[in-house]
Amino acid sequence: MPASRLAPLNRLLPGLIAPTFYPSILILFNLMFSANTYQARRERLRKDLKTGLVLLPGNNEVGMNYAGNTYPFRQDSSFLYFFGLDQPALAAVIDLDRGQDILFGDDLLVEDVVWMGAMPRMKTLAARVGVQQVLPMRRLAGFLKKMRRAGQTIHFLPPYRHENMLFLKEALNIPVRRQKDAASVALIRAVVAQRAHKSAEEIAEMERAVDVTGAMHIAAMRAARAGQVEAELAGLVEGLAASSGGWLSYPVILSVNGQILHNHYHGNTLRRGQMVLGDFGAETAMRYAGDITRTFPVDKKFTTKQREIYEIVLDAEVSAIASLKPGITYQSVHLAAARRMAEGLKALGLMRGDLDEAVAQGAHALFFPHGLGHMIGLDVHDMEDLGEQYVGYSDAVTRSTQFGAAYLRLARALEPGFVLTVEPGIYFIPQLIDQWRRKKMFEPFINYPALAKYRQFGGVRIEDNVLITPAGHRVLGAPIPKTVAGVEALRQG
Ligand code: GLY
Ligand code: MN
Ligand code: MN
Repeated sequence: MPASRLAPLNRLLPGLIAPTFYPSILILFNLMFSANTYQARRERLRKDLKTGLVLLPGNNEVGMNYAGNTYPFRQDSSFLYFFGLDQPALAAVIDLDRGQDILFGDDLLVEDVVWMGAMPRMKTLAARVGVQQVLPMRRLAGFLKKMRRAGQTIHFLPPYRHENMLFLKEALNIPVRRQKDAASVALIRAVVAQRAHKSAEEIAEMERAVDVTGAMHIAAMRAARAGQVEAELAGLVEGLAASSGGWLSYPVILSVNGQILHNHYHGNTLRRGQMVLGDFGAETAMRYAGDITRTFPVDKKFTTKQREIYEIVLDAEVSAIASLKPGITYQSVHLAAARRMAEGLKALGLMRGDLDEAVAQGAHALFFPHGLGHMIGLDVHDMEDLGEQYVGYSDAVTRSTQFGAAYLRLARALEPGFVLTVEPGIYFIPQLIDQWRRKKMFEPFINYPALAKYRQFGGVRIEDNVLITPAGHRVLGAPIPKTVAGVEALRQG
């Protein structure tokens, strides 16, 4: 990417970004790893799968309101992982039996160049990712049909884009509604086995994602003022993600209604006495995601009531991170965080009774109704398209059916190279409180009358991105203030 596209954040917003944050943002981003990286990944896939043919369709442009007015293009993450090319209208085949990789795609016509500018030819692009053989896209369906007739197994991943579903129907004759079940479990497992363990060059890219994300959060914490509309802050952080040379890793969650977990409405005005929950992240030019949450007061300081809840969440987050190491199951880390928050809520008089029982029965989920975190990488919820049972669970760790714990996306034993989020939260959701109270749920553990004073409180979540190392763990990126003192210093600065 040319340097001119990377507007340094400090020039864009003078004084807004702490000096310690801009070195990482000024790095010229790579758009691709070396050909060796992609070749080695495909080689490993070959070893793991042994036989058959792997079909990896890339993504196409998608129209927003008519075909030619498109959403920002986002390549399929597994295609990117194995073939590195971040542009539409490509597909790839790895023929395990013949030992060849083929890239399907078309060179631009002069008529296309008029609108889109010149692009390297397919042969050149293929060589950049270590592929020799290129065929035009119109040959793909026929190629696959021929392979099917020859009795070759065609492995594909669960599709999620409708255009690719229609293509699979045409080329493989599998009805759309059956395609998820017909996807290759062997291929899913082989892809997860690789993508779950981040290499050193991926980790460096993920550090960049978190650093840009940190700059976005610091900017929001500095800029927020009573009287602003949430959209002003949401637009600020979105602009910073774009000006770093990448984009957002998911739509910005930024709200004074932090109790709404994935709240994308940005029309409220910030009022004194409220808190802002910001959950947003940058995606680097190479498409690696950051996913960070901070919660801060609209005022320069937390009120006592806000601080009490904030400290409980922070304590749960910091202790969960401290416990991370290979071998420990993330389900146990989730439950320990739930238990720790239940203790804090009991000290405030909001929970009561035997907390081991309360957590075992799921009473804490009134306040913490989601999972502690998920894997992160090329996708913010990494590999969610491949199926959480393969990504976050194992034969030894199965999904709970209990409200709250059932939303846990990552539960299995941790391994070096995993990158995951740690994101506990406490929320006061009036509709949920009313429903549980009406049904007299968990009355031995929940002091419903005491909750009356918290109905307008909102929610607190704190989230960081953590690498599991052989010795334990490392929080990615430069620290983003999260202690009460650190957050208040930003609000006052
Ligand atoms: N940003 C969505 C999540 O934290 O899972
Ligand atoms: Mn998040
Ligand atoms: Mn997250």
